[in-house]
Amino acid sequence: MQLSKEAILKTLSRVQDPDLKRDLVSLGMIQNIQIEGQKVSFKVVLTTPACPLKEVIKNNCIEALEEDFGTGFEWDLTMTSQVTTVRDATPILPQVKNIIAIASGKGGVGKSTTSVNLAVALAETGAKVGLIDADISGPSIPTMFNVEAEQPAVKKVGEKNVIIPINQYGVKLMSIGFLTPAESAVVWRGPMASSALRQFISDVEWGELDYLLIDLPPGTSDIHLTMVQTVPVTGAVIVTTPQKVALADATKGLTMFKQPQINVPVLGVVENMAYFTPEELPDNKYYLFGKEGGKRLAEKYQVPFLGEIPIVQSIRESGDTGYPAVFKNGITKQAYTELAEAVARQVAIRNASQQKTEIVEIKA
Ligand SMILES: Nc1ncnc2c1ncn2[C@@H]1O[C@H](COP(=O)(O)OP(=O)(O)OP(=O)(O)O)[C@@H](O)[C@H]1O
Ligand SMILES: [Mg+2]
Repeated sequence: MQLSKEAILKTLSRVQDPDLKRDLVSLGMIQNIQIEGQKVSFKVVLTTPACPLKEVIKNNCIEALEEDFGTGFEWDLTMTSQVTTVRDATPILPQVKNIIAIASGKGGVGKSTTSVNLAVALAETGAKVGLIDADISGPSIPTMFNVEAEQPAVKKVGEKNVIIPINQYGVKLMSIGFLTPAESAVVWRGPMASSALRQFISDVEWGELDYLLIDLPPGTSDIHLTMVQTVPVTGAVIVTTPQKVALADATKGLTMFKQPQINVPVLGVVENMAYFTPEELPDNKYYLFGKEGGKRLAEKYQVPFLGEIPIVQSIRESGDTGYPAVFKNGITKQAYTELAEAVARQVAIRNASQQKTEIVEIKA
């Protein structure tokens, strides 16, 4: 076949994005084709910098091109990304592409630990990430990011005071812990907690973000309702541990998002504390709480299974010292990096296949 930009596009329109099940050309992923002698360069714009299929897509492109044009050319592909969104430019968080809620039913299953490491792992791929600590009466994000003493600056924009989020490890953060004295018991009535969360959403200068994570308190509380009434949530990640009592609560957490009047897509289930492993002997796995409970929960409700995070002593220690476990080489880094890829992938699939989420209007 004669080489031209049109012919290249025709060839690449045979290559599919394996997740989105559509071809790269009609998805608008192929850009900036340049032909200089025997060298052909172009950009492949993926749906997330955390794309685990980068190499597969690249190889599939080259294979198709060599099939049509032979092996006499140099194919110079630049793999870049632009995170997708289905959000309109609304007055609330206009530059935030995706809002992801991290929920469970039961307390203490590792929502905050998962949120922190997921946020940092996504930021490490080059994505722009923010994290709201929506646990107003038990904030843990400041400790887990080692920014307990930080106080966010406030600036005036027109008549309005806006809060500048704290930036740590490449993630923008907001927590009630930055606004109240450390160690004082925060006793908030429901409406006050809800109004704090609304402020975190609308009065914080989040700027451009690919992913804004919301670390929720346990249960299915007023805060959950305030969240879905304030912003259209792209999707929810459900964290559970494998034992029966946690799964029963996780089911409540999961079905809450699936209720017709709430209707937030569930991006998937993460099984935290899936098994105990000594860090130096990662092949030794001890299923303390039972095996694959989270996987079965995901199957039962036909939502994706996002992966297993082992119980590792250093994950707990990292939470306490404020230096996230994802920074450590080895099994913890691998587990959280894979989780970030799985979540980013489900966000891209959700955006390609489902309508935007509507804000919930609950009639009294
Ligand atoms: N995979 C893990 N391995 C070891 N320790 C873990 C793991 N996940 C969480 N932990 C530890 O378990 C405790 C509870 O975790 P975390 O605070 O993240 O739970 P949570 O669901 O956010 O709790 P809450 O419901 O109170 O908000 C913390 O001390 C944390 O360090
Ligand atoms: Mg928590």
